[in-house]
Amino acid sequence: MPHVVFVAPRFLENTNRYVAAFAGLDGVTLSVVSEDPAESVPEALRPRVAGHYRVGDCLDGAQLTVALRALGKGVGRVDRLAGALEQLQLPMAAARDALGIEGMGTAVARNFRDKDRMKEVLRAHDVPVARSALVATSRALRAFVARVGLPVIVKPPAGLGSRATYRLESWGDLEAFENGPGAPTSSRPVQVEQFVRAKEHTCETVTVRGVPVWRSGTRYFPTPLEALETPWVQYCVLLPREDDAPPFTDFHPVNGAALTALFGDAARTAAGTALTHMEWFLRDDGSSLVSEVGARPPGVHIMPMMGLAHEVDLFARWAELIAFDRFEPVRRRWACGAAFLRGHGDGSRVASVTGVQAAVEAVGDALVEMRTPKPGQPRADGYEGEGWAIVRHANTDGAKHSLKTLIERIQVTYA
Ligand SMILES: Nc1ncnc2c1ncn2[C@@H]1O[C@H](COP(=O)(O)OP(=O)(O)OP(=O)(O)O)[C@@H](O)[C@H]1O
Ligand SMILES: [Mg+2]
Repeated sequence: MPHVVFVAPRFLENTNRYVAAFAGLDGVTLSVVSEDPAESVPEALRPRVAGHYRVGDCLDGAQLTVALRALGKGVGRVDRLAGALEQLQLPMAAARDALGIEGMGTAVARNFRDKDRMKEVLRAHDVPVARSALVATSRALRAFVARVGLPVIVKPPAGLGSRATYRLESWGDLEAFENGPGAPTSSRPVQVEQFVRAKEHTCETVTVRGVPVWRSGTRYFPTPLEALETPWVQYCVLLPREDDAPPFTDFHPVNGAALTALFGDAARTAAGTALTHMEWFLRDDGSSLVSEVGARPPGVHIMPMMGLAHEVDLFARWAELIAFDRFEPVRRRWACGAAFLRGHGDGSRVASVTGVQAAVEAVGDALVEMRTPKPGQPRADGYEGEGWAIVRHANTDGAKHSLKTLIERIQVTYA
């Protein structure tokens, strides 16, 4: 029986879905590493958790290594190490390297986690990406801009949630950036990229030992960057009903080439068994570019949406994939969408939430799940806002219409 160790920093709602998925899998021994104490393991899952080890910081590869060594002694040899969060991927890789656990090691994990290296690797394999550079000085930043032109995007080399990501449109913007807290330094270099004017999509890919066996995709409305730049717009993610339609299928060869490049020599090993989340751009001329790839399940509710759209439990399928190198492809039956509910105006807390009843009535059966923002809740700083809703419809237009209804009718204000 394979011994799988899952890293769940805190037993929060989303993380618990992954723990539950492994706990529900027949034929595996499950251990959990967390920062929360053993008593916090959800009660229903406890009988299935063979070992628990508490660490101070799950993002510290050395602490994970100590935990895995102990679980290896106490419970049995560790066969697989898994975790869903982006920030865990490098520390987990370091622990795998230290203990000889099969799966993604540091060399491959860095291809996914370091945005500069990712683009270099993709470029070297002729995968289309935006022009980019990692710059440690204003001079290098200016040299890049002189070469490529404005606008450019600046972001942290290992960013997430679009934090500290900005579009610089003018030399004035550039100067302000250089004089601000995000200015490039040798200890805090900046990833700078040619700005790509395009629609933004995702491609979720299941690979078994490097071979793609199943794909799903979504479209962002608007792009996360536009959502951050424009505080009054609401961010939505659409998973269309069609699973065999361009432009998604046209992108598949690029997706395959990109994953092969990033997995590198390790593709045919357990490192190449993954559910990856790729963000990509589709330009008006039909060409596509890879933006970035996470070697982990997608966020922004794409996991539950993929499950709903294909009538399977994708969390359970991911657990099975990781534990057994096995994935049974599924066909799509529904379109799904996620609407993110975000407040308007100034202020640091949610003041009012109106229109919920009317929106719920208008959307009807298409509404699957909703978490409305609550008055008094602190303002969130990202594009995901303070609440969300997931919809499902027999066709793509129906899902789009439901999303539109929700974001138009539900009004959240701050004060
Ligand atoms: N070169 C680019 N051209 C145009 N837009 C870009 C470019 N790079 C990034 N963006 C925009 O900025 C957003 C955030 O960038 P990126 O995905 O690299 O950062 P991230 O912090 O990993 O974000 P997230 O966790 O939200 O995916 C992208 O989703 C996209 O909308
Ligand atoms: Mg991104």
